[in-house]
Amino acid sequence: MSSKLRLGVLASGGGTNLQAIIDRIQDGSLNAEIALVISDKASAGALQRGRRAGIPVRCIAQRNYPDRLSFDRAMVEELRKARVELVILAGFMRLLSPLFLDAFPDRILNIHPALLPAFPGLNAQQQALQHGARLSGCTVHFVDSGVDTGPIVMQAAVPVLENDSVESLSQRILRQEHRIYPEAIRLFAEGRLRILHRRVIIVCPAENPAEALINPPIA
Ligand code: GRF
Repeated sequence: MSSKLRLGVLASGGGTNLQAIIDRIQDGSLNAEIALVISDKASAGALQRGRRAGIPVRCIAQRNYPDRLSFDRAMVEELRKARVELVILAGFMRLLSPLFLDAFPDRILNIHPALLPAFPGLNAQQQALQHGARLSGCTVHFVDSGVDTGPIVMQAAVPVLENDSVESLSQRILRQEHRIYPEAIRLFAEGRLRILHRRVIIVCPAENPAEALINPPIA
């Protein structure tokens, strides 16, 4: 049996984050394997990127299911069949039901294009521009039942420039997304992430994981 962490990537869009993960696996800096790519959109660039990399892909469209639960159940079944150990949301534009969350407890990561807890939900880059934020960025976090509320694993900041458009800010943020998402997955794959209340502790490779839990959370 392979010792590589098996990833299942869910994506609705172009799939540049999926591509960054594929690239880091291919260049040997991420010891993991993408077992399955699922999209709810047949036209998603992510499906093409997956196919091109020789990864099994499935399109699971919500309209083919009578309700959200059966849609989520279908995705969970596919992920289980593929023996997925960590679910990666990479621009997946649907909320997950408790059924899905319970199937992968503390085993779902998401990337959001803002410095959470600022600007959760849709159009985060536009929210940052409208608020006149001087800094924005991206956040990798574990997924819980809220909208972009789960424990934060990693963040990267970028400046918001005077003449930025949603597009130019999004591109600047995406470059950081492509850097930190594979890095956060690598830490998970190395068993170095511990969730303590709502904080994520990154333990050193050589450290005794039990010792990391001695530190109390910051109030
Ligand atoms: C990214 O901006 C990500 O933060 C958000 O959706 C976008 C996905 O982009 N959740 P891509 O499909 O990975 O190019």
